[in-house]
Amino acid sequence: MLHAEPNIHSVTDSNYDPIIAEAAALITRGRLVSFPTETVYGLGADATKDAAVAAVFDAKQRPEFNPLIIHIGDAAAAPDLVEFSDIAARLADRFWPGALSLILPRRADCPVSLLAGAGLDTLALRVPDHDIARALLTASGCPIAAPSANRSGEVSPTRAGHVADSLGGKVDLILDGGPCRLGVESTVLDLTRKIPAILRPGGVAREELEHAIGPVEDSLQTSSQLSSPGMLASHYAPRLPFRTGATEIHEGEALLSFGRHAMTGFTEERNLSLHGDLTEAAANLFAMMRALDRSEFTGIAAMAVPEEGLGRAINDRLKRAAAPR
Ligand code: TXA
Ligand code: MG
Repeated sequence: MLHAEPNIHSVTDSNYDPIIAEAAALITRGRLVSFPTETVYGLGADATKDAAVAAVFDAKQRPEFNPLIIHIGDAAAAPDLVEFSDIAARLADRFWPGALSLILPRRADCPVSLLAGAGLDTLALRVPDHDIARALLTASGCPIAAPSANRSGEVSPTRAGHVADSLGGKVDLILDGGPCRLGVESTVLDLTRKIPAILRPGGVAREELEHAIGPVEDSLQTSSQLSSPGMLASHYAPRLPFRTGATEIHEGEALLSFGRHAMTGFTEERNLSLHGDLTEAAANLFAMMRALDRSEFTGIAAMAVPEEGLGRAINDRLKRAAAPR
């Protein structure tokens, strides 16, 4: 959704209710809203809608899919999404709302888009400590996936004007709540390991965490390590043999296609986007990879997609799925 002018709205006491209602209506229609948190501005979308999440990745222009933080209005919403352990509950009690994102295993029936978690079996959750963010979450009634509202490679925005400069034309509404109080991102804490590990240092210090739950490891992972094949046990890779760049089908293979093509002989086909729309393809990618990963096929043959826009991130993920394991 391209706008000539970035759509910034100051949130004031006098327009609070209508502007939050407008923002929530946009979120529930699958559009993008940038909102302030106590750490940095986020670029928010309904986390349960694949197409909305794909639009977030499109706006960020990253060459690969990085999992997004899922924002919730209240800790009570967490157990519907993830396996919420005792230690998670203790941390939530102490630090939420606040600058702590907790990595936990997705529930089997988790409604959050697979794309939002970049195909991982885990999700990062947090309750932001900002009235506007929480009002938006409450009014939207869905979890909101929100990375920092900057284009890939730029620093995180701490003012609405930064968001407009970086993403202006790609966001439907920017809620201006003034400068962010903390100005650094949330601490990302992985609770899926034996000893909790800090994947990204941020607004909550390691000492504070250790005071609450005991020893915590530093395990600073760059995002490129995070998304390399095999780095995370929970990283989704198909069980079947998987290849990309397919132009013909081998006996018994299922086909993951893109746009119109002339291939025949596949056992089953899923098309990422018949019309060749890369945002639709990104939205479908992880769900379709999983849907074809069934033992009745000998393997999965994927077509490459055009190496432009979101196509770069899609091809990156297809190549990772095809890497030797
Ligand atoms: O303060 C913040 O955290 C801001 C505000 C908007 O909440 N958000 C933010 O999101 O910084 P983003 O997407 O720019 O950074 C999210 C970080 C990335 O380093 C990503 O790799 C990590 O969290 N992350 C998210 N989900 C993960 C998962 N399931 N496993 C491991 N790391 C994850
Ligand atoms: Mg970021």
